[in-house]
Amino acid sequence: MFEIRDLHVSYGKVTAVRGMTLSAEPGKVTLVLGANGAGKTTTLRSAAGLHKPDSGSVVLDGETITGLPAHKIVKRGLVLVPEGRHVFAPLTVMENLRMGGYTTARGETGAILDRVFEMFPVLKERQDGAAGLLSGGEQQMLAFGRALMAKPKIMMLDEPSMGLAPTMVDTVLSSIRAMADSGIGVLMVEQNAEAGLEVADDVAVVARGEVVFSGTAKEARSNSSVLRAFLGEAALVSES
Ligand SMILES: Nc1ncnc2c1ncn2[C@@H]1O[C@H](COP(=O)(O)OP(=O)(O)OP(=O)(O)O)[C@@H](O)[C@H]1O
Ligand SMILES: [Mg+2]
Repeated sequence: MFEIRDLHVSYGKVTAVRGMTLSAEPGKVTLVLGANGAGKTTTLRSAAGLHKPDSGSVVLDGETITGLPAHKIVKRGLVLVPEGRHVFAPLTVMENLRMGGYTTARGETGAILDRVFEMFPVLKERQDGAAGLLSGGEQQMLAFGRALMAKPKIMMLDEPSMGLAPTMVDTVLSSIRAMADSGIGVLMVEQNAEAGLEVADDVAVVARGEVVFSGTAKEARSNSSVLRAFLGEAALVSES
């Protein structure tokens, strides 16, 4: 079980996150929806140890990991796949994957790599090619594969479908579902609410740095304010 409890984060005098509480659990996809500037990225980066929160806590399997250095947080099993993927373009696919496994014991990386290649065959095919030559969707899969190399219990995904062609969005979302089904807990920020709801178990809606709705994906789909804000008036009409 993973919890972000009452997190407050600011940039200088500007408070970006005020009392954010989110959770994720093994085997489930929790979708986080919210307008631009709602504090989604700030929350994920703070949980990952990349930005220091003012207060609140981040708890993984009963242990408080708030404020630990980022590499120690990865080692505990909480891994962030950042917005924009950030693969190392001049390095090969294999080199990118190996970097993801830098906190993993040497003896274990071979077996994990086999599982990554099983889940993403394209990475196996392209393992000796430069990561920068992959398509956007393939780079997203590489970013997932790199995260999987760290043996995550929980993966936080920031806008995984951003900038991808529609057919690639489906592929990427199915692979997110598959990662969760393999036992990983996924906390996913996604602008494409319609696509995100297809694979989500639970949903949290955030506004101005805090959670304003949380429930199951089914509850989100039947909540008129969620529909109106994220799926548009048309969805509301077709639901009623
Ligand atoms: N490095 C920064 N310095 C100052 N303010 C920042 C910084 N990063 C984000 N902010 C501000 O913090 C608030 C939350 O931003 P954040 O990026 O967390 O939102 P978001 O929900 O991820 O938005 P988006 O949907 O656009 O990705 C915004 O008001 C933003 O302008
Ligand atoms: Mg963001």
